[in-house]
Amino acid sequence: MKEAIAEYITQSTPSTDISATNISVGNGSDELIRTLLIATCLGGEGSILIATPTFSMYSILAQTLGIPIVSVGRNEIDFVIDIVAAQDVMNQTNNTVRAVFVVHPNSPTANALTTKELAWLGSWPEDILVVIDEAYFEFSQMTVVEELNQHPNWVILRTFSKAFPLASLRVGYAIAHPEVIINLEKIRLPYNLPGFSQAAAKLVLTHRQDVLSFLPEILGERTKLFDAFAQIPT
Ligand SMILES: Cc1ncc(COP(=O)(O)O)c(C=O)c1O
Repeated sequence: MKEAIAEYITQSTPSTDISATNISVGNGSDELIRTLLIATCLGGEGSILIATPTFSMYSILAQTLGIPIVSVGRNEIDFVIDIVAAQDVMNQTNNTVRAVFVVHPNSPTANALTTKELAWLGSWPEDILVVIDEAYFEFSQMTVVEELNQHPNWVILRTFSKAFPLASLRVGYAIAHPEVIINLEKIRLPYNLPGFSQAAAKLVLTHRQDVLSFLPEILGERTKLFDAFAQIPT
């Protein structure tokens, strides 16, 4: 299954060289988020950094593990992360942050990471994990997978719960440097992904052209909705 995922990534982003050693699979990407929290913040003083509003499970899972959450805001017009506030908070919290979680494009605000935000994420020291959640990759076609080589501390998360419609079968995956993957593999439960779910994920990858054929229609509807909202006077 990891090989099938690696082949899919390489085919959708040809300038990358991803193999099975760059992949870890989870019972949904929610499980991988939990695994990443355990790997980085448990048993120490670690906290995570998020910019709200964003996907709720980062803080829900952190709370259930007793991990402190450092939260910063976003610009009210374009939802860009308040990088200055993030830097201030980092200094105030004595650099306890062990992992940063962002969605690209963000959920629920839909804005993609800007060049400036990406440069900021790229400037984090290598002992801090930068998790870039690409749950909506099939819709956005935006990815930072080409940049993984330069950033051994970046982890990309993807899921089969969105455009690939397998949410109830719970299949997510992480793409990262092999050393990060080895450590995630040490923590995950031995039988975290049922064979049936793996078979289903492989099947939708094999038939991805058919399975994803509805995407242009959805994207067309999104444009229609966007245009209609733009007509509403502010
Ligand atoms: C941004 C984002 N990341 C991760 C997930 C979790 O997906 P999964 O079903 O793979 O656990 C979701 C699902 O809502 C999501 O919106």
